[in-house]
Amino acid sequence: METIEAITTRRSIRHFESKPIPDDVLKQILKAGCYAPSAHNSQPWKIVVLKDKKKNELAEVFLNVSNEERYKEYTGFYVNRLLKYSGKMIKDSSVALAFFNDGSFCQAASKYFRHSKKEVIHLMEVQSVAAAIENMLLACHDQGLGAVWLGVPLLMPQEIIEDFFRTKNELMAVIPVGYPSKIRSVEKKIDLDKHVTYLG
Ligand SMILES: Cc1cc2nc3c(=O)[nH]c(=O)nc-3n(C[C@H](O)[C@H](O)[C@H](O)COP(=O)(O)O)c2cc1C
Repeated sequence: METIEAITTRRSIRHFESKPIPDDVLKQILKAGCYAPSAHNSQPWKIVVLKDKKKNELAEVFLNVSNEERYKEYTGFYVNRLLKYSGKMIKDSSVALAFFNDGSFCQAASKYFRHSKKEVIHLMEVQSVAAAIENMLLACHDQGLGAVWLGVPLLMPQEIIEDFFRTKNELMAVIPVGYPSKIRSVEKKIDLDKHVTYLG
């Protein structure tokens, strides 16, 4: 698939066939993620690949957390619904990818950029991980796979995230991936004038 075609026909896919992803295809899309540009070439992304039992366990966490009384303050009706919907997408997917920021640029930056603002360095880490996610989404589309970038998991209580993944790294997104059960390749209507300003 040509690059511009891949970019303009990629859509979020939320419904999947029950079909495994060959290992070499999975490796290729993970590699595409890791080819992304990153601030100071820090490559701060860490990707956790969840398959089979562990993937279904994560889906259960999403499906159940919104029912727990002690987490009600995080959820509320709308987030509750989104968390449950995310749980279903993860359950139906072939594999779920959790993207983390390992904080390595912030660590390195204290050495290289002594007077830099920490929040700006952190922002660049987040941007770097986002670039890896988008690369990976495009590679999925190129390979006939569907995926959706889930941000709602970031609203989960931190202790649940740390407990499940056994890491203090910062969760950036969870991406269910699988073969689409419905094709959604309609191009979006984009009004360039709304987004772009020319100067000079
Ligand atoms: C940072 C970010 C967070 C997102 N979080 C969610 C989410 O939690 N649940 C969901 O269904 N889609 C989520 N999406 C997908 C968007 O809804 C989707 O990209 C948008 O509606 C445009 O549709 P398209 O991807 O088909 O072009 C997220 C996308 C981004 C970039």
